[in-house]
Amino acid sequence: MAHLLRIDASARIEESHSRALGDYFETAWETANPITRRFLSKTPKNEIVRRDLAARPISHIANSTIAGFYTPPDGFTPDLYAATAMSDELIAELQAADTLLITTPLYNFSLPSSLKAWIDQIMRIGHTFSFDGENFGGLLQVKDVVIICAYGASGYLDANAMKSANFLQPYLEFLFGFMGAESIRFISAEGMTGDAAHVEATLTRARADIDELFAA
Ligand SMILES: Cc1cc2nc3c(=O)[nH]c(=O)nc-3n(C[C@H](O)[C@H](O)[C@H](O)COP(=O)(O)O)c2cc1C
Repeated sequence: MAHLLRIDASARIEESHSRALGDYFETAWETANPITRRFLSKTPKNEIVRRDLAARPISHIANSTIAGFYTPPDGFTPDLYAATAMSDELIAELQAADTLLITTPLYNFSLPSSLKAWIDQIMRIGHTFSFDGENFGGLLQVKDVVIICAYGASGYLDANAMKSANFLQPYLEFLFGFMGAESIRFISAEGMTGDAAHVEATLTRARADIDELFAA
């Protein structure tokens, strides 16, 4: 059974390019992981879990959440259980997946705050990373991470002036590497606020890049 966790971060529910490419990825993933019917009563199922961070925003971590993150299990109170319940749920969802798909726009040269709120909930010592007093280690069980990024302008991936303004891709690449992901692949669509012909050509290229992920 294959298990995909999909996280959508664009504040636009309709007309979002990153979400549209996410839909394309999802269909390709389903094609690559066909459900095999062996017995009528026992159908092995592939699972897709979706988190829409715009439709159902994740709460920001609070003082009590941080207290919970750094309290050993035997010191937990009902208040700390409540304060870390969202983090527990999101981490369980993440650790159950074998592929993680994130679709996100570039907002103000960085990631949407909705995605940062999710990251602050899942980035947790003893759960997704470890620290032994000297070294950090990754505890992420999902090994395959695919991140689809939509950019308004162009040039963020080239060695020109805009590359240094890309605080989205390098940040996410470091973050998931830190947590132990073995494979982190990016699908990028730049110039999404450009004219229709450019947008369509870029989306066609991005869809071909997605096809290539499944061609190997
Ligand atoms: C609040 C906001 C901030 C944005 N900031 C940037 C930016 O810093 N640089 C850029 O190139 N495009 C920026 N854009 C444009 C988006 O990255 C672009 O429209 C992208 O396609 C949005 O993703 P979506 O189509 O999935 O909604 C911004 C858009 C919004 C709504």
